[in-house]
Amino acid sequence: MRGAPIGIFDSGVGGLSVWRQVVHCLPGESTLYVADQAHVPYGNRSADEIQGYCLAIGEHLVSQGCKAIVVACNTASAVALEPLRTRFPGVPILGLEPAVKPAVQLTRSGVVGVMATPATFQGQLYRATVGRTASSVRVVEQVCIGLADLVEQGDLEGPHCDAALEHFLAPMLAAGADTIVLGCTHYPFVIEAIRRLVGPGMAVLDPAPAVAKHLADVLRQGDLLAEPAAAAEHRFFTSGDPQAFDRAVARLVGAQCCSEALIWRPGPLLQLQSEPL
Ligand code: DGL
Repeated sequence: MRGAPIGIFDSGVGGLSVWRQVVHCLPGESTLYVADQAHVPYGNRSADEIQGYCLAIGEHLVSQGCKAIVVACNTASAVALEPLRTRFPGVPILGLEPAVKPAVQLTRSGVVGVMATPATFQGQLYRATVGRTASSVRVVEQVCIGLADLVEQGDLEGPHCDAALEHFLAPMLAAGADTIVLGCTHYPFVIEAIRRLVGPGMAVLDPAPAVAKHLADVLRQGDLLAEPAAAAEHRFFTSGDPQAFDRAVARLVGAQCCSEALIWRPGPLLQLQSEPL
């Protein structure tokens, strides 16, 4: 079991921002990454739809023998974390939620901006976190429709990306925010552009390092850590175009991979199957 892979999934390439931190923090661990690019973006979809996709991806990861699962997507975590934990009670399942608590501790102006998808803001998880941790500050919620798509398309810099970011950042800047939470795993891939546009006085928070550290603690407590000298193997699956995904992995996290295709099977239960090579 200790040598089994960690399953990590997202609607697309965004979860790679979590994957790179997991690999950095736990270099002996093997991983299995699923990008559901047939359905990206998740952010504008209904909770039922997203849950159906996530449970099928969970089945796939568990059938591949994953010892733990990281839902490397705020949107999927917002609506599917509890259903996944109920369906797979024997597997530790970690989710992502916007890093509101650290932002509240950091802000000096008392105004915190949060960038996320509509489904994340509508989810119970986010509401509960804000209710629990942010009563002392003003939280400016910025729905960023289309930003995950820009990252999927590799549009990470240049006038088009800057214009979209300026549009999303303006209300938070106008409100006096001095801390911005990246509440979607796609957004760390434009963190440099965001930092350039907001200037040095603004803290921009990516939760991925904290998630990787939390995963390490969970594995340690469950006696699930791989042997320190283990040779890690990283496999990637996409329900989109494997070659385009391979290029995105190289561009975004500098890893060479040969991803495997997943296909959605219609039927009463959504099923995700590997395409025979
Ligand atoms: N990466 C996902 C997140 O963290 C969402 C992007 C999307 O599919 O809308 O919310």
